Amino acid sequence: MAPSSTSTSTSPPSVVVVLILLLSAVPARLASIPVSDGLEQLGGGEGLHREILRDETVLRLKELGKISDGEGFLERTFLSPASFRATDVIISWMKDAGLATWVDQMGNIHGRFEPSNSTEKALLIGSHMDTVIDAGMYDGALGIICAISALKVLRVTGKLQRLTRPVEHSVLVSLQSVSWLREPLSYCSQVIAFSDEEGVRFQTTFLGSAAVAGILPESILQVSDKSGTTVQEALRLNSFEATAAALGQVKYSPESVGSYVEVHLEQGPVLEALRYPLGVVKGIAGQTRLKVIVDGSQGHAGTVPMKLRRDPMVAAAELVVTLEGLCKDPSRFLTYDEECGCFTEESLAGLVCTVGELLTWPSASNVIPGQVNFTVDIRAMDDLVRETIVASFSRIVMQRCDHRLVDCAVEHKHSAAATPCDPELTAQLKRATRSAVSAMAAPGGHAAVAGESTPVLMSGAGHDAMAMARLTRVGMLFVRCRGGVSHSPEEHVAEDDVWAAGLALLRFVDQHAVAEL
Ligand SMILES: *[C@@H]1O[C@H](CO)[C@@H](O)[C@H](O)[C@H]1NC(C)=O
Ligand SMILES: *[C@@H]1O[C@H](CO)[C@@H](O)[C@H](O)[C@H]1NC(C)=O
Ligand SMILES: [Zn+2]
Repeated sequence: MAPSSTSTSTSPPSVVVVLILLLSAVPARLASIPVSDGLEQLGGGEGLHREILRDETVLRLKELGKISDGEGFLERTFLSPASFRATDVIISWMKDAGLATWVDQMGNIHGRFEPSNSTEKALLIGSHMDTVIDAGMYDGALGIICAISALKVLRVTGKLQRLTRPVEHSVLVSLQSVSWLREPLSYCSQVIAFSDEEGVRFQTTFLGSAAVAGILPESILQVSDKSGTTVQEALRLNSFEATAAALGQVKYSPESVGSYVEVHLEQGPVLEALRYPLGVVKGIAGQTRLKVIVDGSQGHAGTVPMKLRRDPMVAAAELVVTLEGLCKDPSRFLTYDEECGCFTEESLAGLVCTVGELLTWPSASNVIPGQVNFTVDIRAMDDLVRETIVASFSRIVMQRCDHRLVDCAVEHKHSAAATPCDPELTAQLKRATRSAVSAMAAPGGHAAVAGESTPVLMSGAGHDAMAMARLTRVGMLFVRCRGGVSHSPEEHVAEDDVWAAGLALLRFVDQHAVAEL
């Protein structure tokens, strides 16, 4: 079952759901409104649900994109004033889609469609509502709003209610054609808007989804933001309980959840290059973060002869270039792979290494630095490849530093294993994507598509799905974004691509329900 409801928005799900069933399912069936579910109608505008999946979704993205703590730029961090304004808006959209809503003790928003007699595992669909500073309006929001829209279409068309099992009782035989009188399928779908993924405020990512997955340590309550406010204080200021027990209640039991699916913009240029609006994600890369400290001899830029220098800056520069070579052409460095045969071209694909921060002391133009620190970020889909690169780089650091007579230390800051997506969910997402994209490309549809089959991508960025993978199997759908740009106000997803994402998700939920029978 879902965790207990809390103060912010409480509505007993069962009552609401019964109401929904009474208010929407029955009239929708009896009035015989032409319900088009699209699956049988690949040809035309019917079943594409443009008004909800494109027009309304885009309007809502713009509306949410304006809810900001900053003036003239988008910033919405964990438990900020804007995050609560956004919460109200998201709840109203969930209610509009017929979902029973509540906010948990970590500020995550839940919107659940629960059949009256739900015993089966829930399908969770989510993404994050927080943003980076000077963010774009699609990161996170796209996944939340597409999910709400897809469920809204399923409700409006009566499809959610029609996911039913036939009833055998003879008394109902004469009414067999009226499908809403069949036994409700205990199939539950739910949208979650996670309160924190980016980790801007407390420098720790996935506060929301990690709590739902039950992997957030209690010690998190004592972590402080820049102003010295702890997570616990920030929660209490906003009327959350902020105790270890309350955190524990946020966790879903693994038995209550069947799958987690997330729609997210790609944040990279691959889909655009392939001229395809959507892609499925094979997995999320593992990551290692290192800090390298290079100590040399500080000195006068004019008086110390080149031969006598122990310059940490040039040592660091050499290491940065070496790292680039290691990751650009790993097979040239990883010689021992031939014996074990463990590094194939495929396993090396997606390996990326970055030095993003370089600090020097005393940082003056006429001083040979005494110390240079730099960060290293290494990501790969294959954990063994990543670990091997980390080991090789650490070895190279020591060799080069010895050679240059500087002192080096490599500190391991963070390490996370890769998260593979579930092959079955990925196959379902792929089918749904293909079906959505061809429906839109068909005469009467809109998007023009070049490629033949849905691209399969690897995610170099972390996502809530990483945390959720500790709870249940996960699947992800990527959406093409302009120029691959993200974490910037320049972030852009074409309106038709928003539509394609919603339609693919709609078809996925539809098929998934049947597949889970
Ligand atoms: C709910 O489902 C259970 C198990 O399928 C069944 O035994 C029970 O009678 C159902 N209750 C209602 C109210 O339909
Ligand atoms: C480099 O890192 C060390 C250890 O964390 C720190 O004490 C030092 O101040 C840093 N130096 C620079 C230039 O940032
Ligand atoms: Zn994101």
